[in-house]
Amino acid sequence: MKHILAVDQFERPWLEGLFAEADRMRALPRDAAPQRGKILATIFYEPSTRTRLSFESAMIRLGGNVVSTENAREFSSAIKGETVEDTMRMVSGYADAIAMRHHEEGAIARAVSVSDVPILNAGDGPGEHPTQALLDLYTIHHEIGQIDDLNIVMVGDLKYGRTVRSLSLLLRQTNNCKITFVAPDAVRMRDDIKGVLDASGVLWHEEADLHAAMEGADVVYQTRIQKERFASEADYLAVKGTYVIDAEAMTHLPQHAIIMHPLPRVDEIAVDVDDDPRAAYFRQARNGVYVRMALLNQVLG
Ligand code: NCD
Repeated sequence: MKHILAVDQFERPWLEGLFAEADRMRALPRDAAPQRGKILATIFYEPSTRTRLSFESAMIRLGGNVVSTENAREFSSAIKGETVEDTMRMVSGYADAIAMRHHEEGAIARAVSVSDVPILNAGDGPGEHPTQALLDLYTIHHEIGQIDDLNIVMVGDLKYGRTVRSLSLLLRQTNNCKITFVAPDAVRMRDDIKGVLDASGVLWHEEADLHAAMEGADVVYQTRIQKERFASEADYLAVKGTYVIDAEAMTHLPQHAIIMHPLPRVDEIAVDVDDDPRAAYFRQARNGVYVRMALLNQVLG
């Protein structure tokens, strides 16, 4: 597989291979350098901390090097009017692989059409975030020991949140998982994803009561309300704060279950939840490095 563009590319045997490779990366000796001499470019047109740093950390842990622009929207030639196609054609001459995030859905696909080297989609506006979905499912596998027969509750901004969109699509590769969507009315999961889930036989339903949903959960995946995608501050404020996971909410969660969040968090998980062993989100962020190491090995060969 050359480019990592969308979760539709991933099938169950490939996922199992990737997870085994991520386990191997977790234990990779510091002096092993399978990608020595290779260069990864990280080109981000939208803010990021985790995704960019974990890609860069992954490449460095593989013994490779990184060139980077963290604010390509302002600090690259985009501000001078250069097209994504021209920028990426040029960067593909400087690097062996490119991790790219863009604010416009579809820009990554345009980059792929002109790039000679593998491109990894690191977030495509409100579209997809496939490497996050991979690290999310890997986290479930690593924490719970299985990816089948689970009740997964997705909470928060399911309309604009690309991580829940991508993870929902990826769950088609599991067996017998059920999804519960818990979202304020204005940001419910969109019909496109619901239609795809229906067509592939993944059971889902919507629930307004977060505590009731948590009672039957194996995984609760909380998300941030995506402020930057709202038309006005008032629309954002009307939705924010509807579903908060705090110590009281945690009393409804089974002992074996976990709380995940792609981060960054604003106020949708209270900080007093962080010390609960079921709070898996910082472990999840760390898994991003191992999964991205495995992915880079895959596309770089
Ligand atoms: C997410 C994103 O950028 O889509 N963050 C991430 O990649 N870990 C989620 C978010 O911004 O809320």
